[in-house]
Amino acid sequence: MSKLIISPSLLSANFGDLKSDLERVNQSEADWLHIDIMDGVFVPNISFGFPVLKYVSELSTKPLDVHLMIVQPEKFIREVKDLGAMMMNVHYEACPHLHRVIQQVKESGMKAGVTLNPATPVSLLTDIISDVDLVLLMSVNPGFGGQKFIPHTLNKVRELKELILRTGSRALIEVDGGVNLETGAMLAGEGADVLVAGNAVFHAPDMIDMIRQLKNLR
Ligand code: DX5
Ligand code: ZN
Repeated sequence: MSKLIISPSLLSANFGDLKSDLERVNQSEADWLHIDIMDGVFVPNISFGFPVLKYVSELSTKPLDVHLMIVQPEKFIREVKDLGAMMMNVHYEACPHLHRVIQQVKESGMKAGVTLNPATPVSLLTDIISDVDLVLLMSVNPGFGGQKFIPHTLNKVRELKELILRTGSRALIEVDGGVNLETGAMLAGEGADVLVAGNAVFHAPDMIDMIRQLKNLR
């Protein structure tokens, strides 16, 4: 199995000194930078909007992995693309016309990911798995950093891996929420490809070393 991809989650950064945190991520072995956009409707919280993210995109040398926790994410494909994002993740639960949204994201030139809340079964992906570049499994209920990992996610990673192998899909498996060295090791063992980590990275005594340790879990 190939090396893990590490995507530190900006939500847990120190916004009083964002530039320093972003510089540390730039210097680290992190592969991507994970960006959580919330609307206070799809999730009970609001994060940051495009003016702040424009600044982040100028400072970050890592590809942006954007996770939209908003209703009607298709309305913002242009804005996300204009940030220079590499990946746009939309929630399954927010897209009644998921196939159309996935095609629109890909036509824009970005990679397209679909995200599942903890209670949404992997089996619902059967008819879209061949179209997506990535599946993002939420291992907490989305909206906040620093929550406890939901262990059932490990079963979902296993099931998703089977679906991907069975269908010949090339989708990567990303997991988001409560990822640390312990849960990250278990996820790596089940076949996760990408680990998002907010608190574990940005609240570590040595962020660069924590990213290195996560990266070397497999
Ligand atoms: C939660 C976000 C996560 C969050 C993860 O809604 O999608 O990306 O930042 O934070 P940790 O790693 O602290 O659980
Ligand atoms: Zn996220």
